[in-house]
Amino acid sequence: MSKKDLKFNSKTIHGGQHPDKAYGAVMPPIYQTSTYAQTTPGGHQGFEYSRSANPTRTALENALASIENGVYGLAFASGLSAMDAVIKLLNPGDEVVSTNDLYGGSYRLFKQIFEKYGITFHFVGMQSIDAIEEHINSNTKLIWVETPTNPMMNVIDVKAVSKLAKKHNLLLAVDNTFATPYLQRPLDLGVDIVMHSATKYLGGHSDVVVGALVVKDKELADKLYFIQNASGAVCGPMDSFLTLRGIKTLHVRMQRHCENGKAIAEYLAKHPRIEKVYWPGFQTHPNHEVAKSQMDDFGGMISFVPSGSNYEEAIKIVEKLQIFTLAESLGGVESLAGHPASMTHASIPKEEREKSGVVDSLIRLSVGIEDADDLIADLEQAIG
Ligand SMILES: Cc1ncc(COP(=O)(O)O)c(C=O)c1O
Repeated sequence: MSKKDLKFNSKTIHGGQHPDKAYGAVMPPIYQTSTYAQTTPGGHQGFEYSRSANPTRTALENALASIENGVYGLAFASGLSAMDAVIKLLNPGDEVVSTNDLYGGSYRLFKQIFEKYGITFHFVGMQSIDAIEEHINSNTKLIWVETPTNPMMNVIDVKAVSKLAKKHNLLLAVDNTFATPYLQRPLDLGVDIVMHSATKYLGGHSDVVVGALVVKDKELADKLYFIQNASGAVCGPMDSFLTLRGIKTLHVRMQRHCENGKAIAEYLAKHPRIEKVYWPGFQTHPNHEVAKSQMDDFGGMISFVPSGSNYEEAIKIVEKLQIFTLAESLGGVESLAGHPASMTHASIPKEEREKSGVVDSLIRLSVGIEDADDLIADLEQAIG
């Protein structure tokens, strides 16, 4: 049976993987080397310098390609460096239409790094395909989608955006960090580039900072490999090993993240001291139908606002939490709570972030894989 035909849970463990050639090690060794002996100039076994390629990174890149139903995977030093490589496909004068409600660091990269090199970004509420189309002109080269969005949990119809991108001959990239390929596979929906902050669910244990891109098209892969090598923000061997190990349990972790996420979203929705809960699994979520059609479940990311949308109340809650750790990041086995306005989204100007709902009283939860009862008890004592 070809490894290409495996179902998702088997792919996380076996997809693109082979026992190591040297001693048959089942897990690829951490090839902690910068360079490789050559018998004659150019006489090597496929590896010459670890910025260009490293066997541990190659094993991770093959796994990434497999779980996203792609052909080529590229592993970077961080999610943002993976995005940086995508934007470097563009030229001065080019324009990008991006999701308006996206990770603060992505916004900062676009606005504060790339705009000064002459690339223009339009931030658009992508629930409306017409709104995206209104921002497309002859300079537009790329549509950047984050779905579900961080932290408002909006869900964007990837198939519909893909149709639009094809109509205008544009590249389409999707940040699949929140959903992971366990829940949604953008390449199957017509997307050109899938991006991950593998720091999150793919690594899964809050012990690495890693980024990933996956594509199907050889020409596009070659351009991205060129940028990866020429700019050099590659994932090191140790982090490649840890991320690969994380991927092998992605499916079991995600299943529990989804179960716990549902239990906590429902608990919060019934709580008299909570005003709003954002989670795409609710039938009342404005994009619930899209989420149901393009995702296999609804994930473990939830945002909420305490009654009266009170900033001080929100800060008190996050300070009182004991099992949820107040910290940046998400997607690890442990539950985390964050205050987007002052933490993950502080780099977005207040007026901009409030337009998309990121108010000062918003709390974001990354629900981990502990016992849901313990997590609910922790929220109960913190909310009161
Ligand atoms: C949705 C999303 N995209 C991209 C990033 C950036 O990834 P990294 O922190 O690995 O550079 C993050 C980080 O929080 C994120 O949440």
